Amino acid sequence: VDIKINQNILVLALFLGPVCSCKMSRCYNDTELTRAAEQKLRSHYPQPAEHLATAARGAKPSCPLELYRQPASRELNVRSVSPWTYVTRTLEDHFPSSYSEAQCLCAGCLLVQRDGSVLESSDYNSRSVKQSRVFLKREPCDKGGYSLKPVTVEVSVGCTCVKVVSRS
Ligand SMILES: *[C@@H]1O[C@H](CO)[C@@H](O)[C@H](O)[C@H]1NC(C)=O
Repeated sequence: VDIKINQNILVLALFLGPVCSCKMSRCYNDTELTRAAEQKLRSHYPQPAEHLATAARGAKPSCPLELYRQPASRELNVRSVSPWTYVTRTLEDHFPSSYSEAQCLCAGCLLVQRDGSVLESSDYNSRSVKQSRVFLKREPCDKGGYSLKPVTVEVSVGCTCVKVVSRS
């Protein structure tokens, strides 16, 4: 009987544990904060693989008509008819503090002609596809230190080719 009761208490504790820790947001000091954030991200909000930035910071996107004839890479962002590049964005006071984001390179979409030449068609538009991603925002606690608040950020993960919406 004793064992049975203990098991029930254990089950109850396991059940209540996560619920209670969600209600209180713990405060961390400077030394603990980064470690705590990394641990929390790993256990609660698995992060996608980051892409290396393929564009220089602040570079203007240009539609790669010439490069497209013989894509140098098998990567989808290079082979897409609405190609994109990856840029690095930074988010102050957030974990992770930087991430890679897709940036469309063409206003229209690339069409390969019968003769192999490539043109950018304005009958179509390149549009980015967005995904919600959770970051942990550092917020000051009243008694010093910081708490970690989950926040959702819309991140472009790629570009797709869409029909132009005609306004009539
Ligand atoms: C931060 O908190 C940890 C655990 O509570 C403690 O061991 C450490 O000394 C603290 N560090 C500072 C700089 O206050």
